[in-house]
Amino acid sequence: MQAFPIEKFRNLQTPFYFYDIELLRKTLQVVVLEAAKYDYHIHYAVKANKNPRILSIIREMGLGADCVSGGEIETVLNEGFSAEKVVFAGVGKTDWEINLGLEKDIFCFNVESIPELVVINHLACAKNTIARVALRINPEIDSHTHHYITTGIKDNKFGINLDQLDRVLDMLSTLSSIQLVGIHFHIGSQIMDLTPFRLLCSQVNELQQKFIQRGIFLKHINFGGGLGIDYENPDENPIPSFREYFNVFRTHFFVLNNQQIHFELGRSIVGQCGNLISKVLYVKEGSVKRFVILDAGFTELIRPAFYESYHVIENLSLEEATDVYDVVGPICESSDCFAKQRVLKKTYRGDIIAIRSAGAYGEVMASQYNCRQLPKSHFSDC
Ligand code: LLP
Repeated sequence: MQAFPIEKFRNLQTPFYFYDIELLRKTLQVVVLEAAKYDYHIHYAVKANKNPRILSIIREMGLGADCVSGGEIETVLNEGFSAEKVVFAGVGKTDWEINLGLEKDIFCFNVESIPELVVINHLACAKNTIARVALRINPEIDSHTHHYITTGIKDNKFGINLDQLDRVLDMLSTLSSIQLVGIHFHIGSQIMDLTPFRLLCSQVNELQQKFIQRGIFLKHINFGGGLGIDYENPDENPIPSFREYFNVFRTHFFVLNNQQIHFELGRSIVGQCGNLISKVLYVKEGSVKRFVILDAGFTELIRPAFYESYHVIENLSLEEATDVYDVVGPICESSDCFAKQRVLKKTYRGDIIAIRSAGAYGEVMASQYNCRQLPKSHFSDC
């Protein structure tokens, strides 16, 4: 079990995010080391966590950034990331966001449709510049993850469908302010079984042939993100196996001369270092259940309500006896529930609770529903 500074927690206003900076640094060291073996480029997926302290540590380790909005581009540039390492994805880029990307001369736009290509071409032409573009292709691969976070099947809104690729390539030759620099994929998130990544490699190998036949050399291949973390055993597996993950691409993807390989990792980098710390307001005896009511709700961590996702929940007290509880928040919605029928140490008002593995898609998805305040953040090293 992770050692939390419980005395310090008692003096802080809950709920808040607590980040284990040691673990973040270790995770970054591993990912950087493993990626360097094959000269892979990592763009951190900012959507997973945009906390300034977290971003600055990630930047110090030399990672680039994967952004999905003008706001994210501004955030990372203010944080000191270099524009040369910024990629910009998303199915719905607005004109101001595209203009921002052009003005800042970001590394490339990951483009998801023909109408988007036309608009980027038009805006780049107006600025008398050339937009570097990677085509996001929907590879039609099921990543077997939660249906809300699978992105690479025909049914999803993401990417250019395979049967439209020829049309897009025909069209590209007519767009004079676009430079095609590569292709981009992202098949989903929280992927634990690496088989879909293997299938992705085979699919991209085949696709490369199509480009070769058309006389197009792709300098950059971006495989997106998606590597999962062990939500059930955060202490046994605090750092995902980046080695195995990269090895899939090294073994199954055939790199052509000088091609550069990119990844956009979010959850696997920041997921395990974050915890939501909350206080027990009440223990309520229902007629069929016992509820632990926390001062945190889905306004602080929406994943359980949104995806019914599992997070380890620990009562940090010294109590030895246990009991079974539904762990819920104070929000006026029945979905405001972190866990049902969970075994916890016997719980009392005032106990401090840690909800683990909340570093990715936690703080960043917090809302002010019910006029609540956004959670603060604290760090293990200060
Ligand atoms: N690249 C693209 C184009 C993406 O859409 C995403 C995540 C990533 C990279 C980073 O994926 P990661 O390495 O973090 O799996 N809120 C959900 C997850 C949504 C993921 C959205 N896209 C959750 O809490 O599980």
